[in-house]
Formats: sequence, C-alpha cells, structure tokens
Amino acid sequence: MKTELLFTPAAAVSSELLTVFAVDTNTSKEKDAKPAITLLTSEDALKQAAAFVLPTGEFKADANETLLLHAPEGLKATRLLIVGLGKSAKATPHDLRRAAGTAVRFAKPRGIRSLAIAAPATDFDATLAFRAIAEGAIVADFDSDTYRTDRRDRSVESLNIIVPTGADKTAAETGHREGVIVAESQNFARTLINEPGNKMTPTILGSRAAEMSEEFGLKCEVYGAEKLHELKMGAFWSVSQGSEEPPALIVMTYEPPSAPTEPVIGLVGKGITFDTGGISLKPGDNMEKMKYDMAGGAAMIGAMRAIAQLKPKVKVIGIVCAAENMPDGKAQKPGDIQIAMSGKSIEIINTDAEGRLVLADGLYYARQLGATRLIDAATLTGAVAIALGQVNAGIFANDEDAFQRFSKALATSGEKFWRLPVEDEYRDQIRSSIADIQNTGLTRYGGATNAAMFLKEFVDDTPWLHLDIAGMAWLDSDKSWIARGPSGVAVRSIVEWVRSYAS
Ligand code: BES
Ligand code: ZN
Ligand code: ZN
Repeated sequence: MKTELLFTPAAAVSSELLTVFAVDTNTSKEKDAKPAITLLTSEDALKQAAAFVLPTGEFKADANETLLLHAPEGLKATRLLIVGLGKSAKATPHDLRRAAGTAVRFAKPRGIRSLAIAAPATDFDATLAFRAIAEGAIVADFDSDTYRTDRRDRSVESLNIIVPTGADKTAAETGHREGVIVAESQNFARTLINEPGNKMTPTILGSRAAEMSEEFGLKCEVYGAEKLHELKMGAFWSVSQGSEEPPALIVMTYEPPSAPTEPVIGLVGKGITFDTGGISLKPGDNMEKMKYDMAGGAAMIGAMRAIAQLKPKVKVIGIVCAAENMPDGKAQKPGDIQIAMSGKSIEIINTDAEGRLVLADGLYYARQLGATRLIDAATLTGAVAIALGQVNAGIFANDEDAFQRFSKALATSGEKFWRLPVEDEYRDQIRSSIADIQNTGLTRYGGATNAAMFLKEFVDDTPWLHLDIAGMAWLDSDKSWIARGPSGVAVRSIVEWVRSYAS
C-alpha cells in the first residue's frame, strides 16, 4: 500500500472512498442521553454532506462503528465513510489507529483500491496522530490467506492522508514517515510468522533475515550447527538435535557511526519454526498453530528492519535462535542433562519447555557480544495466556529504568503489556537435585514466572526485559481493524524502547 500526505481540502479530493472520523461529544452518563455526533473536520462541505443522516440517531459514533454514504453531495469523492472513535472525552491516537484500520478493512472486501482518510482537526498530538493513522491503515491491509488459489489480491493500493489546514506540517510528515516504516516492519514480521513449518525452516528464516539485512544495510551472519558446537551452546543445540533441519543462529547488527560505546542493546528472539513438544509430545489438537512459535524471533527481525530505517544513534544487536523442536531417535529426552553456553547445567524435565533453552544461550551470547541492555521476545508459555488472556502480553523486568522506558514506549505503540513478577522467592521452582537448574517449575503454578526465572539465570545483572507473547502473537478471529492470524505484536514497542536509548 502506498501512502501519501495531501495538503488539499478533503471535499476537493477525488476518491472512491473518503473517510472522516466522528466522536460522540455527549459525555453525560445519563441513561437516556442522546448522542451528539461531531465530525472531526473543520470543513463545512463535509459537515453538510453528513448533515442529513447524523440527526437520525442511527449512527452513534461508537468506536469502529461505520456509516457509509454514497454520492455525498458537495464532495468530489464518490463515497463518504464515517468511522466512530467513541466518546470524545476518551478518544486517543490509539482509537485513531484502529479506526483507520477499520476504514481499510471496510474497503478491502468491497474491491475499493484507493482510499482517502481525512485526518482529524483536533488537539491530538500531531506526530502521534499521523503515525497512528499510517500504522493502523498499513497493518489493516495484511491478510493471511496467502496460499489460497482463489485469493484475489484485495490490497488497498493507495491511501491519501489528508492534512487539515492549520496542522503542524513537520509533525504530520514525521509521524507519517515513522508510521509507514514501523507498520511495514510489523507486517514483514507477520509474513514470516504466517508461513507454515515446511515453508519456514530455521534455514529459511535465516535467509529471510539476511535478505532483509542486505536491503536495509544491516550486517547479518547466519550460523549453523557447527557454530553452536564451537560456542558450546548446549542448551540451544539440545532442542535442534532431534530435527533433520539444522538450527540457525541469526545475528543482525546495526551500528551507526555516531553511536556511543554504551549502551549496546541486545534483542533476542525465540525462533522455534515448529514446536511439536519433542519427546514430551504435544497433543494433536491445535498443534498446527505451533508454526507461530517463532513469533518472538520474527518480532526481532521486524524490529531490526525498522531500526535500520529510523536510524537511532545506538548500537543494536539482534539475535534469533531458530530451531525445530521434533521427536526423533536423536532427540533429547526428559532427564537428560545439558550444559548451557554459560556453563550452567540444566536437567531437562520436559522437552516442550524448549523456548527457554534456546533463549538461555541467545541471551548469554548477546552479553558476550557486548550487549549491556537486553530484551527478549518469545511465545514462551501457555501459562501467560491463562494469566492475561488475549488482551495483554506479559512483561518481566529485572530493572526499573528499562521497564519505565518500555512503559513509555507503550504510550506511542498502543500495545498492551502487563507486568508479572520475576523475583528470587520463585527461584526454588527451578531447583534441580542433579543439576544447577531444571527447565520447568516444580509446580504448574506461576508457569510464566517460572520460565522467566529460568531466563534470569542467564542475564545476571544486565538490565533485561522479557516479553512473553504466547497469548497475543496469533489472533483467532478477525477484528474490524486487523485480520485474524499473526498479529506482529511487540515490534512497535520494541522499536520505541530501543529509540529511548538513542543519544
Ligand atoms: N511454544 C510453547 C508455548 C505456547 C503455548 C505458545 C501456547 C503459544 C501458545 C512452549 O514451548 C511450551 O510448550 N511451553 C510449555 C511449558 C511447560 C512444558 C512447562 C507450556 O506452556 O505448556
Ligand atoms: Zn514447547
Ligand atoms: Zn515453544
């Protein structure tokens, strides 16, 4: 989708579909309070075009509610789409992101290829508002039905975002530019996640990361089994040893010439291209979904793609530990002991707790490469989805400053993460009688924290954030603003968090 800013009145824009946003300005809580619909535009022609229908009360401007008018009088556009943002006292740039997405997903099945969106003339922060519109629209254009032979390419080809008179032009341009970069990178991650296990092996994931790096000027190395042995990555290797597919250790580096020597940011992603559970085999129901067990790794590749273009003045190393978790004659078994790169011994209790094994070596390696701040992303536990549902992803932190920066990043990204504990009182859960630690908790309680406690063993005192996105990386149903399938969660927030460290 090509997007462009237009500096002309919306009424004069010829388009198949012109979108304008509306709010309900009646914020009274009384039961019979009538909605008072206000179009977020200063153009009389637009208000006139909707003047007939708004008083009927059939459109309440609820968030993502739509109303379509054909042949609107006084406008060049052939259709006018009004999208609700909800009660005006509450509307935020995040509502705008979803509403822009709703407009695009309204257009797609109707064969509408070009769209215009009139950005609201309100007191939203202009950079955030334009960024949100661009992001919402581009993210909404993605659909996951790539292998359907009857797939018609229903992408919206062009989007014009109309800048209202009086808006801050520079802010609009900055917001738009950043929004395009970040949303296209999120969609890139979604494309990788969407591929099934047979089309997205560790080796293929490595090639995709290398191609992307080449395109955007990142350094990228992709190593195989030999390098894992050389680095003594016993935890990572133990997962891949049961598969015919070789593992891939993907290392992407962004180092702008002006970057200070400190901090160095390390991004580490879980890249299990398919998780059968290994010898601790998963039940068959829903196992096909385990193709998205590389969503954390894909998020890191997507984030590196955005970072390469936004060019923050900070060095960033992106590591993805890619492997396939399979049962086989050579597969590791419950009870096996593995020695991680750090030298710690691990008793394998359950081969399905493999994400923490590959991340253990990935996090340790990132520190060896010089990372002084760490973040990992992983579809690590079912337990996080039990705890937080499909609204918030989990975040764990051993450092308040890193956590505060991430909280601020969420205000820009619009994503939702909820903090869960990773503290020493939980350490008993991963004690083993034969080795330093074991790879599952003694009990099922606090499963997401037990996994985080395991990872913590490999970061020591390095400020570190752990994102458990298992419940949020895949959407089971369509929403008005985003298609079902891979969500690309975490890309936007990680990018903002990294930018917070730029000098
Ligand atoms: N990949 C799974 C976690 C997962 C579950 C991701 C559901 C997405 C949706 C992970 O490797 C796993 O199997 N974890 C186990 C850990 C257990 C054996 C301690 C789990 O969550 O059951
Ligand atoms: Zn597993
Ligand atoms: Zn897994």
